[in-house]
Amino acid sequence: MAKLTVDLGERSYEIIIAADLLGKAGELIASRTGINKVLLVSNPLVFSLYGEKVAGSLRGNGFEVATALMPDGESYKNIKEAMKIIDRAVSCGIERSSLIVALGGGVVGDLAGLVAAIYQRGVRFVQIPTTLLAQVDSSVGGKVAVNHRRGKNLIGAFHQPALVVADTSTLTTLSPRDYLSGLGEVIKYGVAFDADLFSYLEKHHQQILKREETVLEHVILRCCGLKSMVVAKDEREDNVRISLNLGHTFGHALEKMGNYREYCHGEAVAMGTVAASLLSNHLGMLSDDELERILKLFDHLGLPTAFPENPAAIYRYMLHDKKIQAGKLRLVLPATIGSYTIRDDVSRAMIIRAMETARHMRF
Ligand SMILES: NC(=O)c1ccc[n+]([C@@H]2O[C@H](COP(=O)([O-])OP(=O)(O)OC[C@H]3O[C@@H](n4cnc5c(N)ncnc54)[C@H](O)[C@@H]3O)[C@@H](O)[C@H]2O)c1
Ligand SMILES: [Zn+2]
Repeated sequence: MAKLTVDLGERSYEIIIAADLLGKAGELIASRTGINKVLLVSNPLVFSLYGEKVAGSLRGNGFEVATALMPDGESYKNIKEAMKIIDRAVSCGIERSSLIVALGGGVVGDLAGLVAAIYQRGVRFVQIPTTLLAQVDSSVGGKVAVNHRRGKNLIGAFHQPALVVADTSTLTTLSPRDYLSGLGEVIKYGVAFDADLFSYLEKHHQQILKREETVLEHVILRCCGLKSMVVAKDEREDNVRISLNLGHTFGHALEKMGNYREYCHGEAVAMGTVAASLLSNHLGMLSDDELERILKLFDHLGLPTAFPENPAAIYRYMLHDKKIQAGKLRLVLPATIGSYTIRDDVSRAMIIRAMETARHMRF
């Protein structure tokens, strides 16, 4: 069992990572939060796979458990569904001292987290992430949100969990596409922050594709360690937290252009990381060798890299990203494998050239 602490003073919390953890969830949660009433939030698919195990473990440790299920899918990450969960919390008598436990991927975690942030001005919240993306990214760091019809995550808050329980065994039931989507984010961590992690991914790509638990535990621990270091330095994204967005300015534009249906988040991040790497290479930062290693790793892990048509239109979507400040595109680019730089001086022509190159790439 791997453990690590996100260091945020009185809001510090632990992330616990191991195989077969769900049956111990009750015990792990009780020892950190005390025994209380729980609202277990999930969706029908994840609940059918793992809900009884978690609820049973909570009940077995003295918790009184009510459940609230939201429909599956990003399109339900909205305020209407959040209100339904709040209605359920009210009718089940969830109090300020109660707990909200999110069991699912990033969609369930983000929505349940937002409910926990606002219900009775904030109740404690535990994340049990069940997708790779949620285990390496969304369950850590305290950003919680739902979408507005005009934009993603427009209604949100910062609300740190009291505990994150990441059971690597749950990843065995994930669809190939959702698993790969998480890997897009994993590679991003290696490229932006950690040359050792990158080499580890190169060396173990076959075990990763087979979802071998010991390899996954190592990778998830490393990614959570990197994310928590960044979050501990900059909890509310005033400065260095933006580094987590490598590949995301391109990626968000791709997601938006495809109406959030064509590409899932990690696929878009993978394509965005490739474009950011090409751009860095064109700007004289990333060497040809490093660029090749990055492209190869994406290819070996089966992630999409080639861009769709119309870079000029993608560029226009990039200009609408909510992270843009004073109309300037701030791009997080790899400086080398394992380090990043932030640039706000790159011309439109260079950005479009990187996307054109990404469009015509062939392995
Ligand atoms: N809060 C943050 O910091 C942060 C960071 C990154 C992404 N996000 C958000 O995360 C969301 C994407 O999360 P996601 O990729 O986990 O998508 P998701 O939550 O939609 O899960 C993907 C699919 O996998 C299913 N699923 C979940 N666990 C499963 C399991 N163990 N076995 C089988 N199926 C399972 C889900 O029901 C869903 O159909 C987006 O809304 C994004 O905005 C948030
Ligand atoms: Zn992301």
